[in-house]
Amino acid sequence: MRPIKIVGTGSYLPPKVLTNFDLEKLMDTSDEWITERTGIKERHIADPDTATSDLVVESTYKALENTGLELKDIDAMIVATASPDTIYPSTACWAQKKLKIPKIPVFDISAACSGFLYGLEIASSLVETGRYRNVLVCGAEIMSKIVNWSDRNTCVLFGDGAGSVIVSASEGDSGMLASYLGADGSLAELLYQPAGGTQMPASQETIDKKLHSVHMQGREIFKHAIRTMEDSAKRVLKEADLTIDDIALFIPHQANLRIVEATCERMCISMDKTYVVIHKYGNVPAASIPLTLDEANRTGRIKRGDNILFAGFGAGFTWGAMVLKW
Ligand code: UT7
Repeated sequence: MRPIKIVGTGSYLPPKVLTNFDLEKLMDTSDEWITERTGIKERHIADPDTATSDLVVESTYKALENTGLELKDIDAMIVATASPDTIYPSTACWAQKKLKIPKIPVFDISAACSGFLYGLEIASSLVETGRYRNVLVCGAEIMSKIVNWSDRNTCVLFGDGAGSVIVSASEGDSGMLASYLGADGSLAELLYQPAGGTQMPASQETIDKKLHSVHMQGREIFKHAIRTMEDSAKRVLKEADLTIDDIALFIPHQANLRIVEATCERMCISMDKTYVVIHKYGNVPAASIPLTLDEANRTGRIKRGDNILFAGFGAGFTWGAMVLKW
């Protein structure tokens, strides 16, 4: 098996920013409530004529610029998203058309906020076996088009954006030191989009009842999220035979600052070692980890040889954690 490394990162955020103060004018909410309960101050929102695949394209160009590789060097593409362009074909296929990279295999991962970690695991396996050289993994979301803007319990939480990485073979000692993924479908109804699939096809009734939008039992998820992130992160540290002191940077999925802080507290990880972006991007499900990674990479927070810990959780319920030597 060949070791892997992330050779480039990129991200893209739609230019329009919606602040908590803007939301105060649209619904019965306040900057104080959103900040105290979630840590979110603002989020980016895509234009009506932008699709999730457009964000994949933009973040892919940024990741390529960061590596010196060209589009023709990519030999597979994986897109993780909870807000796809269409049910089928995949968002990856729409992005492939726009990027003009025909023939290579491309597909979506449906694992909500854990989708990027699921994608990274698959990409690493493809490269480790030697069957593929450079695999692009992108987490991309336009949540603003699938939230119910009259439900203040959910719409204030999410944002739009994308983050991409390119996974290639490594000559040095970098690589995936440990990884762990899991899921529990018995918790599916805690967070889902009820209508639009075969369980509940679109009808006038589903539209009237706004069943094509995010339905979430926030308080229940909150408890599961902290336990799952802690457990997953501890498992991979044990598997890699590392302690928190060996970790240079922790990049958790960012759904709520209180979840991140509680996880860090239970794991004795200082917030200084934790890269937080939720205040400016909100919860950007599958894009949260890769766009945080890109920002950490570009701002010099990561050096070759650093051990980076990732942990995520999301609808499904799905979860995962990884330790990567950069
Ligand atoms: O990445 C995907 C996974 N999703 C998550 O991880 C979400 C996890 N859950 C959470 O982050 C939190 O549970 C929320 C941020 C969603 C909610 O925070 P909470 O502290 O659990 O609040 P709550 O749902 O218990 O609601 C408390 C109160 C309620 O009012 P009453 O019933 O106490 O009078 C809500 O109606 O806050 C009210 N409320 C709001 N008030 C102002 C709910 N949303 C809002 C709002 N503005 N936007």
